[in-house]
Amino acid sequence: RKDTSLSAIAAADTLDAVEALRIDALGKQGWISQLLKTLGKMSPEERQAQAPVIQAARGEVADALAQRKQALEHAALEQRLVAETMDLSLPAPDSPRGTVHPVSQVMDELAEIFADLGFSVATGPEIEDEWHNFSALNMPESHPARAMHDTFYFPDHDADGRRMLLRTHTSPVQIRTMIEGGAPVRIIAPGRVYRSDSDATHTPMFHQIEGLVIDKDIHLGHLKWTLETFLKAFFERNDIVLRLRPSYFPFTEPSVEVDVGFAVEKGADGKDRRVLGGSGDAPGHAWMELLGSGMVNRRVIEMSGLDPDEWQGFAFGVGVDRLAMLKYGMDDLRAFFDGDVRWLQHYGFSP
Ligand code: PHE
Repeated sequence: RKDTSLSAIAAADTLDAVEALRIDALGKQGWISQLLKTLGKMSPEERQAQAPVIQAARGEVADALAQRKQALEHAALEQRLVAETMDLSLPAPDSPRGTVHPVSQVMDELAEIFADLGFSVATGPEIEDEWHNFSALNMPESHPARAMHDTFYFPDHDADGRRMLLRTHTSPVQIRTMIEGGAPVRIIAPGRVYRSDSDATHTPMFHQIEGLVIDKDIHLGHLKWTLETFLKAFFERNDIVLRLRPSYFPFTEPSVEVDVGFAVEKGADGKDRRVLGGSGDAPGHAWMELLGSGMVNRRVIEMSGLDPDEWQGFAFGVGVDRLAMLKYGMDDLRAFFDGDVRWLQHYGFSP
């Protein structure tokens, strides 16, 4: 009986088979258990002779079962490890990747260009109060320029009774920067601004970059050089020509509207596109209005807590979306905010 058991165990090829053989030998009704029960009925002499034989058989069978079980488990593990082997040299499947939106990309590029000129990046809240957005910029309550901004006002006033609005330009960051950090100042302030306006060239939300320099003996020449340098770097052309035109902003005096010369060229898609470069007065060229700027009005410097006899400076504000359209030849501003991947792909912004 022992030998049949042992050879069956050695041949068992599954864990279930081993378990069945264990029950067959060592289970309650198993043959070894039955043999052990017979010991009780034997005479002492017989028992003394038989007990060691039965115990030895029991030990042998138990050892064989344990060994077989371990061998089978080991083989199963081995098999699983082989089956689960990964080939790490296989190329991974290509999954769609996100890309930086053209507006973000332009803002990053501008931050880098201005960092080289020693400007740091400042920010302010998009939900502004009337004082920072208008009054401190020399636009008191009754000022007609306020009406030009098509402002989104909040219906309720804040806890301090201030009238709140969505900032209509990034210029309030000028005020905040001067109040918080004093002078000198050399910052740009990129961000979202809001005006109730919508057509092919206007969206109710758009992006501006404000520039502000406050120091001693700053003059229009510094402004012109800064704008020329940044536009040449941004458009990667040395033939950018600017025209400074007298203008009016309540927060700058004098105020300067800056035009840039361009020519119309046929793009690869057959559509006309404006390409910056050259004087607007050259044959086949024209001027395009690009940004507003000027010397910071001394009343603004004063309202920001600085002495205008000691500190002067210049400021400018430029539309980021506008710059992106010009650089990448995009023609509908609204497409910037539709979130259509095909549009991004068309302009090479998405794989
Ligand atoms: N804030 C002005 C606008 O949005 C632009 C500007 C900024 C003009 C700074 C002058 C100086 O139209």
